[in-house]
Amino acid sequence: MQIRCSNPACGEKFDRAFSGYACTRCGDLLEIAITCTPDGEALKAEWKQRRMSNEPADTSGVWRFRDLLPEYDAGDIITMGEGNSVLVEGLRTAEYAGVKNLHFKHLGWNPTACFKDIGMTVAVTEARHRGAKIVACASTGNTSGSMAAYAARVGLTARIYLPKGKVSSAKIAQSIDYGAEIVEVDGNFDQALDGLIENPDPNIYFLNSINPFRIEGQKTVMFELMDQLDWNPPDYVIVPGGNLGNSSAFGKGLEELHALGMISKIPKLIIVQATGANALVRTFLAGGKHLEKVESPHTRATAISIGSPKSWKKALRALQFTNGLVLDVSDEEIAKAKVLIGRDGIGCEPASATTLAGLRRLVASGEVDPKASFVAILTGHVLKDPDAILEYQAQEVHQELAYGAK
Ligand code: F0G
Repeated sequence: MQIRCSNPACGEKFDRAFSGYACTRCGDLLEIAITCTPDGEALKAEWKQRRMSNEPADTSGVWRFRDLLPEYDAGDIITMGEGNSVLVEGLRTAEYAGVKNLHFKHLGWNPTACFKDIGMTVAVTEARHRGAKIVACASTGNTSGSMAAYAARVGLTARIYLPKGKVSSAKIAQSIDYGAEIVEVDGNFDQALDGLIENPDPNIYFLNSINPFRIEGQKTVMFELMDQLDWNPPDYVIVPGGNLGNSSAFGKGLEELHALGMISKIPKLIIVQATGANALVRTFLAGGKHLEKVESPHTRATAISIGSPKSWKKALRALQFTNGLVLDVSDEEIAKAKVLIGRDGIGCEPASATTLAGLRRLVASGEVDPKASFVAILTGHVLKDPDAILEYQAQEVHQELAYGAK
């Protein structure tokens, strides 16, 4: 494995111990290059075989794919059996979107009830491998809970920076439960994150998704998905976009599977943002040369209330590689989609519902074929933001949809 600049035109390489997150030559984010080239067909068989094993590294839906991850001794891996999320068929939701073939992959069904665990298992393993004592992140509430839980497993101090008044109380409570040190920041997520980036502390290992080890874990979502579909990729994978680490990781995972000849078709990535936090949409429409920031991001889907997504270039690369689409949806569309996902017996937090709202919009506008196959990635559990449910009820979104009205 090799740490290198994610800009192919730069390609600067870094030492395994390098703890920066940006290229010292061009300033772009870093990535992990997997230097081995295993036989793709043999890997498929091996990954399937590992499901028969009870070894901790094999029961993890991340480390089962360790052949394409940074290497650690088996005993050094910090795992809680993350990943392993099933595919659930969309019922009323499929009807609502106007499609026939819709499945949800619910990454909220993970140890800390959100998708972050899938990257965090690798990043905290790396933190310990480096001898870190303190790990830190800025967060809209999910990264923080996940980091705190994994750090607690090995006695690392978890310091989390939360934008004051902008994080669901359920998420704050969860981080308190895992013993995190909480710092409330006056300002939004972007300001909290920039504050950390601009004042690096050599005693602290930094675990936001600009950390390339987070992305390595997160990319395994695509490995697991393809394995679940017996290596028949869907036409589209739909994902919410916030700081854009997840979208970037999915693009990287798909690039790697394709390079090893493991998938013959590349699913198109659909990234869906909230209208009040749509920096990638603006950037894409403006030609993608510079980030078009949203100065004061605002959406009820607080998890993705982000105006200056750090992984925007990697996300654009994922869109380009998969020939994907990016769009934004209003808070009202998100609320309705969230209610429908609940009515399917699945449930999710508001940010995750952007996926269904986005799909419905793309079908209505004719931009996607309703006969295509879709996998929507749900990122956070329904109980991550119970206040949203009660607010939507007060606004009568539940009642409106209960009788099948669209
Ligand atoms: N969905 C949920 C539930 C999230 O918590 C996040 C991000 C996203 C989607 C967007 O993912 O940033 O990879 O594009 N939450 C971060 C946090 C920012 O701090 O918990 P992304």
